[in-house]
Amino acid sequence: MSRVLVIGDTHFPAVKEGYLEFVKGVKKEYKCDTVVHIGDVIDHHCISFHNKHPDHPGAISEYKQAVECIKEWKVAFKDMIVTVGNHDERVRRIAGDAGIPDFYLRTYNEIYNTPWKWVKNTTIDNVFYYHGMGGSGMYPAFNTAKAMGISVVAGHHHSCGGINWLVSPMNAIFGMNVGSGVDRHHLAMKYGEDHIKKPVISCGVVINGSPYLELMPL
Ligand SMILES: [Fe+2]
Repeated sequence: MSRVLVIGDTHFPAVKEGYLEFVKGVKKEYKCDTVVHIGDVIDHHCISFHNKHPDHPGAISEYKQAVECIKEWKVAFKDMIVTVGNHDERVRRIAGDAGIPDFYLRTYNEIYNTPWKWVKNTTIDNVFYYHGMGGSGMYPAFNTAKAMGISVVAGHHHSCGGINWLVSPMNAIFGMNVGSGVDRHHLAMKYGEDHIKKPVISCGVVINGSPYLELMPL
């Protein structure tokens, strides 16, 4: 059985100041032996189908800023599983739409000089971890858990942080949305400035298959 720290979306370089120290503290407090980043490690604001903010620097500048973030994070989390998010995949998706096979593209570890394991999803102690694409409703991870019949941990929905349970005589499953670690004032997050629901700044922990959610003091 594992003691898993689950890091929310970081969208480098648009990560919330202090989020790294916060998740390091949670890892220590819960004595976690496994780390999962739930995806959207990188924002790729400038490489997108959406319009970029006119004040935002270009793609190269954004890449360099993201690499500076990653340098700190890979010191803190050498062995980390990343369940790849839709923002991480932007380059690959655009390349695919242009007819360029994956064969011609570099891996995430090559691009960001990371030692991490980048996967679509992972299952630990019968709990399914994935970024959260396709999840919907007020409790997206819980809705996915009910559809799959297995406990689910997800990110993706930055303003969703919480745990819901479905308990039957024979079974108990949960859905946990781990919130995120984004800075809502960063230019890359400007699209949400008029949204009423703001990002929940938090991370998850799963100890021997049981979930906990920790909110960062703001
Ligand atoms: Fe995200």
